[in-house]
Amino acid sequence: MKLCLFTEVNNKIHKPMKAALVVSRKPDGSHNLITVEWFMRTSIEPAQYAISIGHSRYSYACLTDFPYFNIVFPSSDNKTLLSLAGSQSGRDIDKFTAGNVQSNPGRLQKLPIITDAAACYECEIVTQLRSGDHTIFVGEVKYSWINPEKELFVYRS
Ligand SMILES: Cc1cc2nc3c(=O)[nH]c(=O)nc-3n(C[C@H](O)[C@H](O)[C@H](O)COP(=O)(O)O)c2cc1C
Repeated sequence: MKLCLFTEVNNKIHKPMKAALVVSRKPDGSHNLITVEWFMRTSIEPAQYAISIGHSRYSYACLTDFPYFNIVFPSSDNKTLLSLAGSQSGRDIDKFTAGNVQSNPGRLQKLPIITDAAACYECEIVTQLRSGDHTIFVGEVKYSWINPEKELFVYRS
């Protein structure tokens, strides 16, 4: 082992990475999407999921305004959407329209479910914790969705 920069370790351990999409609600009632790498399960009972969102992201403003998110696990059909949602801001564009996203209202009826994804959790935010330039939002999973016809897509940058 040798001492190195933080980024050297980060680059080594993060490929291939899993990426997900997070749906949030904009203050005007329309919806936003962000690509995230920083997400994890944080509780067995009740089932909870955490996402870490940068303070500069428009999604951060959306999540502090409306306490729900859907975490969407992509299929290979969502490759282009992952790039779009990870490179453009919802401040500037409507990513649902730009990505031609097909969705349905879900069971919780708070945020849309992306129809051709591999799986999705509908979550209500129960806790948040600031971590440097990001905030970790912890959501309690209210409903779980799976698409038996779609495999999980593993993102390779
Ligand atoms: C593969 C990938 C993973 C990303 N992971 C995160 C993440 O975990 N948290 C985060 O805040 N931004 C992450 N980003 C950056 C946001 O997706 C990006 O800044 C996005 O354009 C923000 O959109 P918004 O302004 O509409 O919220 C990631 C981007 C990519 C391409």
